[in-house]
Amino acid sequence: MSWETVDLEWSTDIATVTVDRPDALNALNVETLEALGEAVAEAEAGDARVLVLRGAGEQAFIAGADIKYMKDLSTEEAQAWGELGHSVTDALEQFPAPTVAVVDGYAFGGGCEMAMACDLRIASESALIGNTEIDLGIIPGWGGTQRLPRLVGEETAKRMIYLGQRLDAETAEDEGLFGEVVPDEEIDDRAAELAAEIATKPAFALRAAKQAIAQGYSDPAGLDYEKRTFAGLFGTPDQREGMTAFVEDREADFE
Ligand code: CAA
Repeated sequence: MSWETVDLEWSTDIATVTVDRPDALNALNVETLEALGEAVAEAEAGDARVLVLRGAGEQAFIAGADIKYMKDLSTEEAQAWGELGHSVTDALEQFPAPTVAVVDGYAFGGGCEMAMACDLRIASESALIGNTEIDLGIIPGWGGTQRLPRLVGEETAKRMIYLGQRLDAETAEDEGLFGEVVPDEEIDDRAAELAAEIATKPAFALRAAKQAIAQGYSDPAGLDYEKRTFAGLFGTPDQREGMTAFVEDREADFE
């Protein structure tokens, strides 16, 4: 099945969802984010034993939420935008079967958050990842404030979020953000191999394992707080300046 900028392909019972907007480094605008949510729902309806999430092209997994779209959003619009992103990260996190993010290239902001909502992350040696929103005058808005500390610990997460750090693949693997890193030319084969291996395991037991692991961190209070705080930053001088500076390809001058 395919949408304008998202594809869903099946290889027996393995569903591969590809964000396909390479001209914008697979940045997620409304249309793409909605299609991504629909593709994940379709994979669930098709009873996938494994879901693989990847980005088209060789440069990016997902370069984040679309800054050109977000630049002039009001608080109310940002609230709806945050909700939409959370609905997709929640769908990935709660997907009944295991999910694997294949990070081949940039995974910043919302791209990092999509990867973190998956169960496993494998990356190519040239991948870069980070919750870089601070440099746009906002905070991570699709679960990063909650999922990043869980994966890498609080100190590292705070450094990454406060400083907008972009970790290279080796560092991200050392910090526990990537489960494995492989040479660029091997990533597609390795992703297929990993997904196929998971798919040979007993499906009900896999689902039970996923649900049992999720029980340990099922409190939604942090995610709700993040949604409100993210939206509240839209319209501030720093948000307007941070995103305008990106669009104008210059350094931001914050207050
Ligand atoms: N939104 C919109 N467009 C984007 C984009 C984004 N997040 N990232 C890249 N693009 C576009 C660029 O504007 C450019 O388009 P044009 O050719 O029309 O000018 C095209 O993709 C190629 O990008 P660059 O020319 O910038 O490519 P580069 O190789 O020089 O740099 C990059 C690549 C380092 C990833 C750089 O594009 C970049 O820093 N992008 C922004 C990354 C970012 O900050 N992401 C977080 C967004 S905020 C967020 O996601 C909020 C949230 O939590 C929900």
